[in-house]
Amino acid sequence: MPIDLQPPPPRGWAARQARWVARIKCAALRQLHASAAGERLLLRVYLIGEEATEIALASDLAGTPPDWLARQMEHHLADERRHAAAFAAELAARGGPAPSGEPGRPDLLSRRKIAQWRELAQRYGGQFGAGMIVPAFAIGLCAEQMASRVLQRHCALIGAGHPLHPLLAGVLADEDRHVRLCSHTLERLVAPQEQPALASLLERIRAIDRSWGVTGAIGMYLAGLALRLRPAA
Ligand SMILES: [Fe+2]
Ligand SMILES: [Fe+2]
Repeated sequence: MPIDLQPPPPRGWAARQARWVARIKCAALRQLHASAAGERLLLRVYLIGEEATEIALASDLAGTPPDWLARQMEHHLADERRHAAAFAAELAARGGPAPSGEPGRPDLLSRRKIAQWRELAQRYGGQFGAGMIVPAFAIGLCAEQMASRVLQRHCALIGAGHPLHPLLAGVLADEDRHVRLCSHTLERLVAPQEQPALASLLERIRAIDRSWGVTGAIGMYLAGLALRLRPAA
């Protein structure tokens, strides 16, 4: 039976935690949209996410992929560069820094998460005939699914009439396509007997993501609140 690559619905404590994180993130988005500086920070967070994906796609983790996959990764990388450029342009239009064209350094929380994911990839790489490319795409799948969830929540919260909606909805459509792309790639690369190892790897990647969920959501909320209150102070 093919492995289910969709994140399983959380149960028990994890389900309660997911509901809190979702509520705090919605409250954080409202705070951030309440000031121009908050909206710039949101765009900056998206820009950093896109640049981190760009760095991951071009990193050594994937090794030397077969030709069919190298071509697919080039197209994928072009999409992520286009997203980064669109967020950088929107940021500049709102008084942020002019686009540099070079990926910036991810924030501390993202760097920690990426380091933990890389460590996990090293541990699991030997369990797959295709090698490190499988953990690289497993991380990619989870990151694309996460991006899709974040953008869906954001688009639903601001509504279709908001000036940022077309940009976010356009990126969301691409991230959903990337989720399908990563899923198909994993289905092609992973042999039937390797599926339990992939299931275990996906669970661990998602557990690392969840472990940062509350911290990240509270950090976003506090940043939004501070930026909203700053002009009054
Ligand atoms: Fe993207
Ligand atoms: Fe993507």
